[in-house]
Amino acid sequence: MENRPQWGTRAGFILAAVGSAVGLGNIWRFPGVAYENGGGAFFFPYLFALLTAGIPILILEFTIGHKYRGSAPLSYFKMRKGAEWIGWWQLAVSFVISTYYAVIIAWAMSYAYFSLSKQWGDDPLTFLVGDYLKVVDAGQVGSIVPGVFLPLVIVWVITLGILFKGVKKGIEVANKIFIPALVILFFVIVVRALTLDGAIDGVNAFFKPDWSQIFNGKVWVAAYGQIFFSLSIAFAIMITYSSYLPKKSDITNNAFITAFANSSFELLAGIGVFAALGFMAMSQGAPIDEVVSKGVILAFAVFPQIINELPAFSAAFGVLFFVSLTLAGLSSLISIVETYVAGVQDKFNVSRTKAVAIGGGLSALISILFATQGGLNFLDTTDAFINNYGVALAGLVEVVFIVWVAKELTNLQNHADAISDIRLGSWWVISLKYITPVVLGIMMVMNIMTDIK
Ligand code: PHE
Ligand code: NA
Repeated sequence: MENRPQWGTRAGFILAAVGSAVGLGNIWRFPGVAYENGGGAFFFPYLFALLTAGIPILILEFTIGHKYRGSAPLSYFKMRKGAEWIGWWQLAVSFVISTYYAVIIAWAMSYAYFSLSKQWGDDPLTFLVGDYLKVVDAGQVGSIVPGVFLPLVIVWVITLGILFKGVKKGIEVANKIFIPALVILFFVIVVRALTLDGAIDGVNAFFKPDWSQIFNGKVWVAAYGQIFFSLSIAFAIMITYSSYLPKKSDITNNAFITAFANSSFELLAGIGVFAALGFMAMSQGAPIDEVVSKGVILAFAVFPQIINELPAFSAAFGVLFFVSLTLAGLSSLISIVETYVAGVQDKFNVSRTKAVAIGGGLSALISILFATQGGLNFLDTTDAFINNYGVALAGLVEVVFIVWVAKELTNLQNHADAISDIRLGSWWVISLKYITPVVLGIMMVMNIMTDIK
């Protein structure tokens, strides 16, 4: 499209990209995944995946968006006529993610409010499952839960409201507010957590390496899955965001900054969460590994329990934590929805308003399914399926297509090098040509084999 919108400033683009990357994945996903997969030893596969897949693919996607100036389907189409479907597939994965991602943000919003009076009482797990989510058995849908439905509506109103305003006035402005606020809030939380009794035991437990895990295929799958999800790559998002870059943009540098910010946030979250877990273990006189949990339970049952036990300012700590989760989640959700809004706009040539109303409206409607009594069960299954198949497979197809089918790697390298300070050397080429396809290929086969068994 001729009148493609543009970011106002370089910082605006970087904040938006960081906003997309830093999300629920950093705060409630990473700490548990790292701990479960070898603790300190997890950093080896994690760094390997980051350096040979995460950052190279991020640079690749920034370059694609910048060069072809299109949403993912349009960009792939411009690369090779028959390849548009890769973009639509990535877009479909994003669409599914947005439907449940929004619900988790809604929970976080509720819990920010519950923090004020510690409404979860003495038994936060029972409160979560029974009183708040009103969970029913697997396979049942049940009725809509009003306590989840209301915040979910708010999440969608905010998200679509920002998207209606457009790239510069909506997305960029929102991220310029959300991300600095998030950094400050989160910094306060981590410092507070680290000064609690027992914090150091928690952090030690987090970093304690279990080297026996290092050759375990499951650990490598977890590392790649975490990197892809966390950097928002292979979801068509970073292609979309970089399609709004001005001509002169240091793509490679921007990619390094985004990846560095995301991993720092992840590490910080791991330290903060485990410091808090260490405190809880000490105050309950339980060993650390008995109090460790992840995902939904960690954020919405264990954290409330930690908040209950804090010596002072406990309500404030709770509000900070859940508001952080909300901000991190919203800035990511905005990017996910923008991905298919842009796709629909490019394809059908409709106005932004229409695309947001149709695309966003549809995912908002579907997300109501997860705000039912059976919602938690659906959410778990969908998340597992997306992570095991959607993400890694989309990444594999993307890389193999660009490198081996379209043979675009050299063109893209030249494109990035012409406008970036850092030159892409053999590290980038070897990672994308050989290392990533081979590792992801092996992972896919392993995944399928364990599922068949
Ligand atoms: N990267 C985000 C996170 O870490 C999640 C996300 C996934 C955002 C996919 C966009 C697309 O939470
Ligand atoms: Na992330």
